[in-house]
Amino acid sequence: MTPPAPGDYTSVRAAILALLARPEYDDGSVGPVLVRLAWHSASSYDASTNTGGSNGAGMRYEAEGGDPANAGLQHARVFLEPVKAAHPWLTYADLWTLVGCVAIEALGGPAVAWLPGRTDYVDDTRLPPRGGLPDASQGAAHVRAVLVRMGLSDHKAVALCGAHSLRRCHGKRSGFEGKWVYNPTRFGNQYFRLLARFEWAPKTLGSGVRQFVHVDEELRKELMMLPSDMALLADERFKEWVVRYAEDKELFYADFAKAFAKLMELGLRRGEDGKVLNEDNQKGGYASAPKKLDGLGLPGVANEEAEPLREENEKFRARL
Ligand code: HEM
Repeated sequence: MTPPAPGDYTSVRAAILALLARPEYDDGSVGPVLVRLAWHSASSYDASTNTGGSNGAGMRYEAEGGDPANAGLQHARVFLEPVKAAHPWLTYADLWTLVGCVAIEALGGPAVAWLPGRTDYVDDTRLPPRGGLPDASQGAAHVRAVLVRMGLSDHKAVALCGAHSLRRCHGKRSGFEGKWVYNPTRFGNQYFRLLARFEWAPKTLGSGVRQFVHVDEELRKELMMLPSDMALLADERFKEWVVRYAEDKELFYADFAKAFAKLMELGLRRGEDGKVLNEDNQKGGYASAPKKLDGLGLPGVANEEAEPLREENEKFRARL
């Protein structure tokens, strides 16, 4: 069979769609972790210094990929290796953003506009400092500070957090446990409806981590919210948008699609023809970028936490 030609994103999209359903993985879908990969690849962006963002695919390097705040995303990166192998011309930076958009739509969310052109860092000298990713144990001031740092408005920030209608928290990754919604592999506005309408009580897990829960006695199910999710209710300006999105799914979809598309573009400069003008990676561009992984790998088998980072990561989790 002829391999897909350079620039054949229809083939890339088809390859991503083909790997989404995985009965043996978490709730049967790889989609949510791919959405989180796309979000974390972009959310290192700092508008004040115009650094970070999805260009570069910094998570290939231990300093960013091994950041405890990125725990679990190695699974997503491993899942994507076959797609990369089948499309060797594709940059990781483009792949890791496109997967988020494809997965959101495939899971029932809105279509998100996406443009190619990102390149991969050739070394780890331009990685953003650690500590910039949002901390789920914090309140509204932190959530606003992190999202404002990215240059996002209040309503875009709230809309983006609606992605927590997807899947769950894992004790072994973030320290938090459980699902936000009843149907965690279906994108929708249930997260906002439950956040706005249910009673949420604080709960301290056996590990000492504090989160919020709602127990549905009838269905015998416990749902959860992170302290940072509850912050969206505690802050009046955020809350206004939680309530609007709970009532109006169309509005949520429209705002989410715009916000996610903007997120994927943070830090990129494009010419009138859409070409990326950033010169960060001119030292060699994608061609000389090292590959993070060899072989196709499996979650839990390949690319687990690097030894030197284990201690640092344990300290991070203990802090939660
Ligand atoms: C204040 C902002 C945010 C904080 C503090 C936060 C925090 C977290 C945490 C702690 C987890 C659990 C990770 C785990 O244990 O596996 C999680 C999962 C997730 N987050 Fe967020 N998040 C934020 C915003 C976002 C945004 C903006 C998106 C996407 C647009 C997003 C998408 C996801 C997805 C899809 C998951 C589930 C991943 C999986 O099941 O593997 N989050 N988030």
